[in-house]
Amino acid sequence: TGLFTYDSGFTATASCKSAITYIDGDKGVLLYRGYPIEQLSEKSSYVEVAYLLINGERPSAEQLKAFTDELAAEADVDPSINTLIGSFAKDAHPMAILTAAIAQLSGIYHASLDLSDAEQRRHAAVRLIAKVPTLSALIYRHGKGLPANKPDTSLDYVSRFLKQTFESADGQYELNQDVVKALDLLFILHADHEQNASTSTVRLVGSTGANPYASVAAGVTALWGPAHGGANEAVLKMLEEIGSADNVESAVLKAKDKTSGFRLMGFGHRVYKNFDPRAKVIGVMTGKVLEQLGVQDPLLDVAVKLEQAALQDDYFVARKLYPNVDFYSGIIYKALQIPTEMFTVMFALGRTSGWVAHWLEQQVDPEMKIGRPRQVYTGSDVRDYQG
Ligand code: CMC
Repeated sequence: TGLFTYDSGFTATASCKSAITYIDGDKGVLLYRGYPIEQLSEKSSYVEVAYLLINGERPSAEQLKAFTDELAAEADVDPSINTLIGSFAKDAHPMAILTAAIAQLSGIYHASLDLSDAEQRRHAAVRLIAKVPTLSALIYRHGKGLPANKPDTSLDYVSRFLKQTFESADGQYELNQDVVKALDLLFILHADHEQNASTSTVRLVGSTGANPYASVAAGVTALWGPAHGGANEAVLKMLEEIGSADNVESAVLKAKDKTSGFRLMGFGHRVYKNFDPRAKVIGVMTGKVLEQLGVQDPLLDVAVKLEQAALQDDYFVARKLYPNVDFYSGIIYKALQIPTEMFTVMFALGRTSGWVAHWLEQQVDPEMKIGRPRQVYTGSDVRDYQG
């Protein structure tokens, strides 16, 4: 293959050194800064996890309070963001609008940002974690034809997002702590996942010296695809198409047929070859959340039957294909009344802390170089331009 090691899809190439997240794909282990995801899901909060990811250690009570206050203080966005979001068609995909809105942040903050200043870098990272929920709420409201509104800075991070998203014209929204807790947990599970496609994109863009807003906007576009974060939307559409538990067998058959172009969405993972520990946590929480909210969703039966059928099928067993984080997350988002086209935005919201943690880490990495892969050239030999 010529001069360079050919590694399509980077299955065997470490692109950086990182102290943030550890995955053991054979054992189904996921650690953020050394802490198992199961323990963080049970005992921590998304805001604490975000602090942990970007700072390396858990915050003291005072540090957590200061971080929480800083997130609230930075939650509001420039009015030009509302103009930008308003310029999109109501049915434009929310991920397209999110990309543009984060790019708009780079328009607002780029000129004044000194990337050589550690405190300015940290502040930019916190600003992104603070503002992405606000952007997401405004994007939801635009799609629904609701007027733009302001984040309620007296509330905690997740409640603020929920209220801004769903509040009525007279500012009413009744917070349900089961909903707050479920969403907080989903954000924890989505917060980081080492060098996945979107985080690698953030790092590749960041390696050029681009600002963190531009880097994260690029990460959002990478997340959108159905092989990555877009899978949560694709799973729900797939479950709706399958429609009933009776059709599960034929869906499994179709997924095994390479000529069908159909894959079981929410199944398989590049790194996990035993189980996805995030899927285990979500699997347990799905039934609980639906019960707490009094929601009966027939799609849950379809999903359970599909999972069972695939896990017993030789094709999926031989290829070590298991449900991933996205298999059940959509059913929970649906129960929380988040529309299907917003699912991947929810993933982006949670992943923002991971993206900025990687961007911050990269900025002080003494071995950091511009990302610049080589290729195996397969084109024509040199030839003369005739005529
Ligand atoms: N349904 C049917 N067959 C599959 C599936 C699937 N979901 N996933 C992989 N395969 C088959 C694939 O056809 C291949 O078969 P063969 O060896 O006979 O050619 C084998 O399994 C290995 O697949 P691959 O495409 O080489 O594996 P990959 O590591 O390149 O892809 C993946 C990983 C997640 C993109 C893939 O499993 C997939 O497309 N899954 C569905 C989409 C999905 O759920 N994505 C969310 C990933 S987790 C959330 C996140 O972090 O983004």
